[in-house]
Amino acid sequence: MNARHDRNPLLMPDFDAPHWRRDFPILQQQVHGKPLVYLDNAATSQKPQAVIAAVAGYYEKLNANVHRGVHQLSELATAAYEGAREKLRRFVNAASLKEIIFVRGATEAINLVAQSYGRGRFQGGDEIILSEMEHHSNIVPWQLLHEQMGAVLKIVPITDAGELEPGAYEKLFTSRTRLVALAHVSNALGSINPVKKMIVHAHQHGVPVLLDGAQAVPHLPVDVRDLDCDFYAFSGHKMFGPTGIGVLYAKEALLAEMPPYQGGGDMIRTVRFTGSTWNELPHKFEAGTPNIAGSIGLGAAVDYLESIGMLSIQNYEQALLEYGTQRLQTVKNLRLVGTARHKAGVLSFVMEGIHPHDIGTIVDQEGVAIRTGHHCAMPVMEHFRIPATARASLAFYNTREDIDALVQALEKVREVFR
Ligand code: ALA
Repeated sequence: MNARHDRNPLLMPDFDAPHWRRDFPILQQQVHGKPLVYLDNAATSQKPQAVIAAVAGYYEKLNANVHRGVHQLSELATAAYEGAREKLRRFVNAASLKEIIFVRGATEAINLVAQSYGRGRFQGGDEIILSEMEHHSNIVPWQLLHEQMGAVLKIVPITDAGELEPGAYEKLFTSRTRLVALAHVSNALGSINPVKKMIVHAHQHGVPVLLDGAQAVPHLPVDVRDLDCDFYAFSGHKMFGPTGIGVLYAKEALLAEMPPYQGGGDMIRTVRFTGSTWNELPHKFEAGTPNIAGSIGLGAAVDYLESIGMLSIQNYEQALLEYGTQRLQTVKNLRLVGTARHKAGVLSFVMEGIHPHDIGTIVDQEGVAIRTGHHCAMPVMEHFRIPATARASLAFYNTREDIDALVQALEKVREVFR
C-alpha cells in the first residue's frame, strides 16, 4: 500500500463506480435541490437494491422464526439465516460456522468479549492494551470491565500523523497483559494499523488480540485466518448491509470456553429450575429470536461485495483517497487531520477559524453529506487539541466528481466566512 504515494492520482484504476452507484436507489435523489453527494460512509453506508430486496423478500415470502418449527416457512427461514452465516464465514475466511456469531454490530461484539471472555477470566490488575485512536465502542466496554473487576487499561499513544507511536506497543506488555483490543482501521483518522505484526507480537507473549474491524471490512479484503486474530468485530450497516446486525468472529477454542453472554431461548440445550445447559456453538451466543431479516440482508451485501471484488474496491478507494487528499490540500486554510502512510478512505479536516459544524451545515446545502463532530473518538480529538473535525469518508460508489463537489462546497464555506 506504500505504492499509493508513487501513483498519479489522476490515473484511476479501471473501476466503474458510476455503474455500481446505480444499484443504490437512495443515491439517485436530490438534497436541497442538488444531486446527493454522499460522503459519510464511515458513519453508515448506503444499501444496494439487492440488499433491500433480500430483506423485503424475507418478509414477503419467508417470515418465520428460526430453529423452532417443522413447518415449511420455518425451515426456509432457518436455511436462509444459516446460509447467511456461511456467506459471512466465507467472506472473512473463518475456519468454521461455529466461529461466526450474529450480534447487533461491532459494539455488541466487543461488549460480548469484554463480558464473556474478560469478566470471568481476568483478575484485578490484569491489563488490556488499547490505542489512543480507538472508537468509544472499543474503550467503554473495557472501562466497564475496569469498574466491575479492576482491569487496567494501557494505551498505545499516537503520533501527530495519526499512526501508533513506533515502539510504544511492545513496551506496554507485562506479565499482567491479558488482551490487546485494537482498531484495524481508525474511523476518525483512516489509519490502517499494522495489525498482523502486532498480533504476532501479542501471541509471542501468549496474549490474544481483538480487532475492531468495523471500518476495515467494507474497504479491504479481511482474512481472519491470515491475520490470526483471536476476535474480529464488525457491523453490517457500514458494509452496505442493514442496521442492527453485525458479526463477532472468534476462534472456536476460545468460544468453547466462554460462558454465554445473554440467556434466553435458542442458546440452551436444557432448562430446569435446578440449572440449564447450553446449546452448541454458535447458538450458545445467540439468545432470543435473532435479527433474521438483518442477517439475510447482510448475506446479500456479502454476495454483492464479492461480485465487485474486495481487492478492486480497495485499489479504487486508495486512488480516490489520493485524489481527495490532493484536492483538499488546495483549499486554503484547510488542514488534514490524520496523514498516516497507510490509510483507508477517510478525510478528516479542520478549517482555520470555522467550526466543523458550520462546514457540515453549509456543504449540506450544496447536497454534500459529511460528518462533523468527534466521531465517537474523543481521545483522538484530545490528542489533536480540537473539539471536532469535518470528515468525508469514501465508498466504492464515490467518484472524483464527488470530491470535486466537496471542494467546491468548501469554497462556498470560505466565502461565507470571508
Ligand atoms: N462510528 C461511526 C462513525 O465513525 C458512527 O461515524
